Amino acid sequence: MSTHRKHPGHAHPAEHGHDHGHPHAPGRDRHGNPEDLEGYLARLEDPARVEWQKPDEVVAALGLRPGGVACDAGAGPGYFALRLARAVGPTGRVYAIDVEPRMIALLEERAREAGVANVHPLLAPEGEGLPPEPCDAILIVNTFHHFPDGPRYLRRLSERLAPGGRIVNVDFHAGELPVGPPPDHKVSREDFLAAARAAGLDVAEERTFLPYQYFLALRVG
Ligand SMILES: C[S@@+](CC[C@H](N)C(=O)[O-])C[C@H]1O[C@@H](n2cnc3c(N)ncnc32)[C@H](O)[C@@H]1O
Repeated sequence: MSTHRKHPGHAHPAEHGHDHGHPHAPGRDRHGNPEDLEGYLARLEDPARVEWQKPDEVVAALGLRPGGVACDAGAGPGYFALRLARAVGPTGRVYAIDVEPRMIALLEERAREAGVANVHPLLAPEGEGLPPEPCDAILIVNTFHHFPDGPRYLRRLSERLAPGGRIVNVDFHAGELPVGPPPDHKVSREDFLAAARAAGLDVAEERTFLPYQYFLALRVG
């Protein structure tokens, strides 16, 4: 299993919606984020992303209930965190974790603009940030390859699941696709499954409604 990939040092022409990076790659910071933050944000928040990312269907598939608790690990500016917040409603809580202070600042701004008060941004500059209470769902979208030790972080996150809770990872399939990062940036479905096994987690469910990404829900084995 390998979550560390070679980085070609340039953007893939088809890269859209996500600028997947790799720690220590040229033009990237130590967390794998591009130095061109504005371009990165434009891709993450591109309105056209909705067509293939299907964020409302992803959130619906988590089965969250009003009053529930969710976590978005690698939340960025909140594309999913704000939707999770609506799913759990004002009596629920969403912990939105990121390593990048500018992402957290933007997430706070976006939550304010949207009138969403139940998103709790958590800056974890050294990575492996954890929600402070048990979660019904922990969502990771297009971010797993940023984690320096994916299995270890999965294991630590799984310790913050509520009984019956799940970790859901959504990420791009291997190979050339019209959107997403170049092939050598990706963590394939198979590599992710190996990481999950290494973390002692079982597949609870797999959904296949996304055109370019796998959706795997994990539970404690
Ligand atoms: C490709 S973006 C995805 C953002 C969001 N999940 C989405 O789908 O729009 C990856 C995000 O993960 C964050 N990140 C990178 N390394 C991280 C780590 N070790 N722990 C938490 N977040 C991390 C980055 O700062 C960035 O905001």
